[in-house]
Amino acid sequence: MPYQTIYSSKSATPMQMDELEELLEHARNSNAERGITGALVYVDGVFLQILEGELEAVQELMGKISKDFRHETVTVLKEGAIPSASFSDWEMAYVSATREQVAEWAGLSGTIAIPEIVTDIRQDPRRATQVAKSILSVLLSRP
Ligand SMILES: Cc1cc2nc3c(=O)[nH]c(=O)nc-3n(C[C@H](O)[C@H](O)[C@H](O)COP(=O)(O)O)c2cc1C
Repeated sequence: MPYQTIYSSKSATPMQMDELEELLEHARNSNAERGITGALVYVDGVFLQILEGELEAVQELMGKISKDFRHETVTVLKEGAIPSASFSDWEMAYVSATREQVAEWAGLSGTIAIPEIVTDIRQDPRRATQVAKSILSVLLSRP
């Protein structure tokens, strides 16, 4: 059974688009080799990432990601075995979003700031599942 980890972290410094693109390019190549798929959202200096794959592969990658100097306060919002990978078409999709969208995905009010959204998701991991589903539907609706 595949394993899924959803985490959030704070960017060490504001990320420029070219830095994000570089990160994604490396991630996609490396994820393809490890059989990892998923999605990354970056909003207001905060990352939300969904990683899926074999348990060992996801945990090994999380070990590396946790030590990455480009971000801090890596906080797992939800993790566990899943019946099948939802993001298997994406080696690492990038989804841009506003904080209002992320709040809506999590079933929260639209005026709330990202750190509070993350706290609320952490307190109720079902919100993380909703966020993952919403990200997937954004990807599926892309032309
Ligand atoms: C927000 C964020 C997300 C990342 N996502 C991935 C990823 O999906 N896959 C990956 O291989 N590296 C990812 N990285 C980079 C890793 O932290 C690390 O640099 C990389 O795994 C080193 O890979 P290598 O040892 O295979 O060269 C991410 C880094 C950050 C800051």
